[in-house]
Amino acid sequence: MKDLIDILDLSLAEIDELIDVANDIIANPDNYREKCKYKKLATLFFEPSTRTRLSFEAAMYELGGNVLGFSEAQSSSAAKGESVSDTVRTVEAYADIIAMRHPKEGAPTVAAMKTQIPIINAGDGGHNHPTQTLTDLLTIKREVGRLDNLTIGLCGDLKFGRTVHSLIQAMVRYKNVKFIMISPKELKLPEYLIEEVLLKNKIEFVETESLDESMDKLDILYMTRVQKERFFNEADYVRLKDTYILTPEKLERAKDTMRVLHPLPRVNEISVEVDNDPRACYFRQAKNGKYIRMALIMKLLGIE
Ligand code: CP
Repeated sequence: MKDLIDILDLSLAEIDELIDVANDIIANPDNYREKCKYKKLATLFFEPSTRTRLSFEAAMYELGGNVLGFSEAQSSSAAKGESVSDTVRTVEAYADIIAMRHPKEGAPTVAAMKTQIPIINAGDGGHNHPTQTLTDLLTIKREVGRLDNLTIGLCGDLKFGRTVHSLIQAMVRYKNVKFIMISPKELKLPEYLIEEVLLKNKIEFVETESLDESMDKLDILYMTRVQKERFFNEADYVRLKDTYILTPEKLERAKDTMRVLHPLPRVNEISVEVDNDPRACYFRQAKNGKYIRMALIMKLLGIE
């Protein structure tokens, strides 16, 4: 495997291996301090990011490597009309591996075809976010101890939320995983995911608008923000953005063992009072993102 464009580029065995390496990095960070000495990661971010870009950069620094790149299209020659293809053909002369975020679905795929160095999709439009999914899988494994036999509630913007799309594609490969899709009808999961992923794999799922009714059944509650930047109409965003707000009162009905994940950034969909609940693990999740990206960078660079 040269690139990571889609979570399905990784077999379950490869995901297990990445999780094992990430756990070993957490336990023995000193063993990894020079693994990427003299290697360079380019972070090409054509869309805003805090966690993904900075965790990639922190990951490379903690492996002893270096980082270059840009954090917005306006500060690159994309602002002058340069294509993604020309950008990556140029950057491959300066770096060993590229992490790219782009608003256009498929842009990292195009980039991967144009360069010899590994491309990591750090989020493409409303499509996919495979390194967030690896982060989520590591978090679920660390917090709950398993990736099978889970009832997962996905709540919020299931239409535009690329993290949800990647997570579903990953989780259907584990045994006895059920989904409760909680969204307003305008933000339901796209039909292609229902048809081609859930029904095709005979996955048990329900669609509902009620978070409260689902709460006591869940092992994982995966909250998501309504994706303002993907809406065509501001009025629709304003009407839908606060449909779900998780509060300590709502969590009273949840199992003690349930975990609340959120890819972040949070806007209003989890009240800050929830942060102190031991079941809230979204900041631990963000931290895990650095370790799994360290494991991924090493794998794509062929470093043991
Ligand atoms: N989860 C995530 O992708 O966060 P950022 O947009 O801050 O990178």
